[in-house]
Order: sequence, then C-alpha cells, then structure tokens
Amino acid sequence: MVKDLGMMLEIILLLTESVLVSSYALNSTVQCERLNEKKLKVRAGESLYLPCPNRYCFIQTENSSYFWFRNLSRTKQMEQIGTEESERVHFHQSVLYILWLNLNDTGRYITHRYEGDFCGEYETVVVVYEEFSMDLVYKTPSEQVVSGIYCPVCDEEEQQGSFVWYKNFSLIPNQESAPVLRIRNSSKQSEGIYTCVCTWEHHGIKHNSSGSRRIVIKEQTINVSPKFSLPINNSVVFTDVGSEVILNCSVYFGQSVCSRCSIHWEKNRSRLHGEDGYEQKYRYSVLFFSRTIDGTLQLLLNINKVSESDLRSEFRCKAQDSYEVIFVSVTLKSRASVLSVIVACICTSLVLLLLAGGLKWFALDLVLFSRQIFVKLYRKEDGKLYDAYVIYQRNNLDEATSKTVCDFINGSLLTVLESYYGFKLFIHGRDDLPGEDCMSLIETEIQLSRRLIIVLTPGARTDKSSDSPEAYDLQVGLHQALVQGETGVILIQLGQMQDYTHLPLGLQHLLCKNSPLLWRDGESSPNSRFWKRVRYQMPVVSSFQRSSRRGSLKASLQCQGLLV
Ligand SMILES: *[C@@H]1O[C@H](CO)[C@@H](O)[C@H](O)[C@H]1NC(C)=O
Ligand SMILES: *[C@@H]1O[C@H](CO)[C@@H](O)[C@H](O)[C@H]1NC(C)=O
Ligand SMILES: *[C@@H]1O[C@H](CO)[C@@H](O)[C@H](O)[C@H]1NC(C)=O
Ligand SMILES: *[C@@H]1O[C@H](CO)[C@@H](O)[C@H](O)[C@H]1NC(C)=O
Ligand SMILES: *[C@@H]1O[C@H](CO)[C@@H](O)[C@H](O)[C@H]1NC(C)=O
Ligand SMILES: *[C@@H]1O[C@H](CO)[C@@H](O)[C@H](O)[C@H]1NC(C)=O
Ligand SMILES: *[C@@H]1O[C@H](CO)[C@@H](O)[C@H](O)[C@H]1NC(C)=O
Ligand SMILES: *[C@@H]1O[C@H](CO)[C@@H](O)[C@H](O)[C@H]1NC(C)=O
Ligand SMILES: *[C@@H]1O[C@H](CO)[C@@H](O)[C@H](O)[C@H]1NC(C)=O
Ligand SMILES: *[C@@H]1O[C@H](CO)[C@@H](O)[C@H](O)[C@H]1NC(C)=O
Repeated sequence: MVKDLGMMLEIILLLTESVLVSSYALNSTVQCERLNEKKLKVRAGESLYLPCPNRYCFIQTENSSYFWFRNLSRTKQMEQIGTEESERVHFHQSVLYILWLNLNDTGRYITHRYEGDFCGEYETVVVVYEEFSMDLVYKTPSEQVVSGIYCPVCDEEEQQGSFVWYKNFSLIPNQESAPVLRIRNSSKQSEGIYTCVCTWEHHGIKHNSSGSRRIVIKEQTINVSPKFSLPINNSVVFTDVGSEVILNCSVYFGQSVCSRCSIHWEKNRSRLHGEDGYEQKYRYSVLFFSRTIDGTLQLLLNINKVSESDLRSEFRCKAQDSYEVIFVSVTLKSRASVLSVIVACICTSLVLLLLAGGLKWFALDLVLFSRQIFVKLYRKEDGKLYDAYVIYQRNNLDEATSKTVCDFINGSLLTVLESYYGFKLFIHGRDDLPGEDCMSLIETEIQLSRRLIIVLTPGARTDKSSDSPEAYDLQVGLHQALVQGETGVILIQLGQMQDYTHLPLGLQHLLCKNSPLLWRDGESSPNSRFWKRVRYQMPVVSSFQRSSRRGSLKASLQCQGLLV
C-alpha cells in the first residue's frame, strides 16, 4: 500500500512539472531548439546588462519576438520575466536588465526567440558574488608583450558606457576613458589584476558593471642550449648480459618557460618507448608551461635485461627545445670482457717485470760478454799504461786490518785482475822504481792509469800528515777524478763501516755518487759477483796486455816487507 502511495505521489509530481513546462513552453505549439549556453559571474550591487548570448539572437530583432524566463537557484521555479521598466529585472527584446544585483539573482536565465515557426532557446547562467573573488577574473593567456587590455564588460558594439581602470584595485593615474587600456613598454611590473568599471545609463539612472583581467607577462625566452648533467657524452656503462641497467638522463633547460622542451632515449637512432624491456620513466622536476626554480628534466631509461644487441648498440639521450635538438650517447660494455682485458694487462706486466728482473740480474754478464766480443775489436790506443792505479792505506793500521788489506791486494786483487783477467795494475811499492821522485812519480803514474781503485779500510784514520805517499796519491787521484773528471774511480770497501765521516771530503763526495763495492772474505773466485762488478767498472783488457802478464811474487814480497 505504501508503495502504491509513493508511486501516486511521483505521478502527481510529474504532472505538476509537465504543467509548469507547458506554461513555460508558452502558448505556442512550436518546440524551442536549444542553441546556446553561457556562464557569467557578476558582483552584487552592480547592474547587469545581459544581451541574448548569441550574436544573431541579439542583432536580429526585426520580425522576431523574445521571451525571457528565469529559474532562480533559490526557488528552482521557472518564471517568466516581464518588460516593465519599473521592475528591477526586465527585458527589452534581446536584452535583459538586472539592476542592483543581489545574491538571490543567481540562477539560469533563458531566452526564447521566435521567428516565424522557428524558436531558438538560449541560456545564461548568472552567478552573483557578494564580494570580489578570483573567480570573477577573466582568464587571459600570458604573453611576452602586452600592449592593451580589453574591458571584459560593456562590449562597444552592444553597449555605450564610460570606463574607469584600476590596477590592483587602485586607480590608474592619467587614464583616458576607453574600453581598451593601452600599456606602453610592458614589463614584469605590468603584471597584476586590471579592473575596468563601466558606467552606463538606463532610463536616466547610472549603473555600474565591472570586469577584471589578470595579466601575466611571460618571461622573455633567452636562447640557452639545454645542458646535459647526465649522462657523460660518449661514456661507457659496464654491465652484464641479463642484468638490469638504469641510464639517467638529466638535462637543464634553464629558468624560462619552455613549452617545447622534451627529452627521450634512442637505441641505434630509433626512439624507445616503454616496450621490449625498455621502460622510460619521466621524473619531472620542471612543470611544462611554468617556470620552476630548478629547470631540469630527467628521464630514466630502465633496461630490465641487458641483451647482446644492447651491448652492440648506441644509446642516445636527445634533448629538444624550440631551437635545436642535441644528444649525448652512451654505450654498454660487458663486464666480463673488461675483466679479461684487466687479466691480460696484469699478465703482460708480470711477464715484463720478470723480463726486466732477469735482464737486470744478467746485465753484468751480458755487458762483460759483449765487451769481450765487440769492444775489444774497436779499442783505440789512448796512450795509457795501466788499467788501474790502486790506492790503499799502508800505514797507521791495526794488525788485523793490515792483514786484511794485504790479503786483499796480494791475494785476490792481483790474482783475479792481473793473473786471471790480464789487467795491468799499478801498485805502489811494487811498481815504482826505487830512487824515483816519489811525488812526481805518483802524478805521472796516475795520469797513465785508466782507473783509480781506492780501497777503503774500516779502521783507517785520516792521516794528519798529508806528506805521506799514500795520502798524497789519494789527493792526486781525487783531484784527477773530481776536478779533471778524467779517471773513473772504483771504490772497494773491505768489511763493514759505520759511516764515512772520517774519510777525506772528496772521497765522501764520490761515495755519495757511487756506493762502494763491498768485499767480503772468501769472494776469491774470479767468477763471483763482486769481481764481475769490478770488471764491469774496469776498462776493457787489451789483448797484448794479456800476454805480458807479470808474476805477482815480487810485489807480494815487498808488501809483506813493508808491512812487517
Ligand atoms: C499565453 O496564453 C495566456 C493565457 O492562456 C496569455 O495570458 C499569454 O499572454 C499568452 N502568451 C503569449 C506569449 O501568447
Ligand atoms: C520582416 O518581414 C517583412 C514582411 O514580412 C519583410 O518584408 C522583411 O524583409 C522582414 N525582415 C527581415 C529582416 O527578415
Ligand atoms: C531549475 O533549475 C534547476 C537547476 O538549477 C533544475 O533542477 C530545475 O529542474 C529547474 N526547474 C525548472 C522548472 O526547469
Ligand atoms: C533573498 O531571499 C531571501 C528569502 O529566501 C530574503 O529573505 C532576502 O531578503 C532576499 N534578499 C534580497 C536582497 O532580496
Ligand atoms: C618605451 O621604450 C622606448 C624604447 O624602447 C622608450 O623610448 C620609451 O621612452 C619607453 N616608454 C616608456 C613609457 O617607458
Ligand atoms: C599586483 O598584484 C600582483 C599579484 O596579484 C603582484 O604580482 C603585482 O606585483 C602587483 N602590482 C603592483 C603594481 O602592485
Ligand atoms: C560606479 O562606479 C563609480 C566608480 O567607478 C562610483 O563612483 C559610482 O558611485 C558607482 N555607481 C554606482 C551606482 O554604483
Ligand atoms: C639522475 O641524475 C640526477 C642529476 O644528477 C640526480 O639528481 C638524480 O638523483 C638521478 N636519479 C637517479 C634515479 O639516479
Ligand atoms: C647498432 O648499430 C651498430 C653500428 O652502428 C651495429 O653494429 C649494431 O649491430 C646495431 N645494433 C642493433 C641492435 O641493430
Ligand atoms: C656528444 O658527442 C658526439 C660525438 O661523439 C657529438 O656529435 C655530440 O654533439 C656530443 N653532444 C654534446 C651534447 O656535446
């Protein structure tokens, strides 16, 4: 029963509605055709001059009849509007007047225009705002240069009026009353909300209508090339087949508004879309059509599984702005191949190291061997008599050192160098003739020698009396070696030494440049390393000297005699 009642009510409601519609659809049998719709936002307190929202409907008044209706938001009832001048809301043909607007005027305003058998229906939705609101501001596209602003109300062709312009709600000085506000040399300072108040007359009464526009000055675009911060041009990314790689492309486009800025990834010159295991992820840090603090655009290329073909391809990130397209390229390399290259490098350097080590070890032998073969053939006569002049301390030595020195000079030095290898040595006390002028002899003999062999002994004290022959030959020899630089010096050290401070300065200087060859007891074999190093520093043995060997017996006897 309740259900039936509900249905009944519904039917009654439907009936009343149809009654209303029919009265609103007028006495005519003609069905009106819906043509135009428009929305208008106005301010309470002002007046509205509302022409039919269609130009033809507005102009073509001859042979046409107009009817205006309203369906106010408050009542939701369709009412017919009259033409009485005394009414606050009335119409004259194609123009509706709503004077002194109030919030209750918000609603839908409908125009019916009959022309013969045709009826057109036009609707204007009017919203009244109590106070100024940004909703009331007409949208204006931002421009780089603004030369003038049109008043959004009081269309010149429809309505006469006088205009007053405001910027940011304060009167603009020195303005002329015009529906267009001229702006000279627009700049960022020109931005703001411009309001025009149009004052018009209706039956001797002045009414106001206002409209506002917001002006935004577009930044002058300066042609700055996009800058890649990532990836590095022609860089290589190491990876493995089957693994995931993320390539990060990051481009700085500058601070200005950039509507055509974009970036994308390419593989071998063909553009990649989110397909075939390539996924491109945009990370905008710039909003298109708007200025940002950052100005950078990022695009990540995500390769889920690196394939062989990826390793053979070139990946490019292309950046595009209004002027140009630039790119950077990246290639992928397999980590395995890099590893093998590294291993090969290590192996090669190891082999080289071994070779170098071997060479160093056998260098002496090689030099000595090749000398034997080659240098001998090209040897020039230099007018020298001896291969080496041996300088050693003969006096002021303790007994043990004396014995060591004597053993070395007679035993090893003479045996190996003279007897075995055939060098010709000058040994003081053996080779000088008795009665000769000792000093001049020493000088001559040193000049006639190709090398100086200086034997350093551990216990040696500096001889204070420089008159002694051995001090003198050392002096002359050092002078020859250091000042004239003619004679090579071979330093042989017998046994360990703490330091060389007790030695003459010239000798210390030589020791700084060349470390001495250390002789240890027992290195008497002619093929020992010590003798090889001595021979390396010695000049080449001439063949004729080899044949003229001398016995060392006499010298050794003399030496013994001298020391005992
Ligand atoms: C419609 O008819 C009513 C009475 O039935 C009349 O008062 C009204 O003027 C008519 N309207 C038009 C537009 O003819
Ligand atoms: C209005 O109607 C008259 C007579 O029917 C006709 O002469 C005239 O051209 C029409 N005007 C317009 C604008 O259609
Ligand atoms: C009046 O307009 C409201 C919506 O604004 C609508 O729901 C209602 O049906 C309209 N009334 C008539 C009689 O057309
Ligand atoms: C608007 O309508 C309400 C009733 O709904 C009324 O009280 C108020 O006075 C009206 N406002 C104006 C300005 O007419
Ligand atoms: C506008 O700029 C021009 C030069 O570009 C200058 O001559 C003129 O004085 C400027 N006018 C104003 C109002 O600033
Ligand atoms: C006007 O207001 C806008 C914000 O709406 C502001 O950016 C602009 O600087 C103001 N202009 C003046 C001249 O005050
Ligand atoms: C119309 O606006 C002007 C300012 O532009 C103001 O002085 C005047 O009082 C306003 N008139 C009405 C009727 O609101
Ligand atoms: C991509 O590079 C930019 C700039 O170097 C950096 O800020 C960002 O964090 C990077 N993104 C990823 C996912 O690595
Ligand atoms: C990409 O181009 C290179 C030569 O530019 C070519 O060797 C390679 O095979 C190409 N890769 C693919 C997947 O076509
Ligand atoms: C990257 O290098 C290529 C040449 O290898 C060059 O053509 C290209 O202009 C370079 N891109 C940038 C942004 O410098």
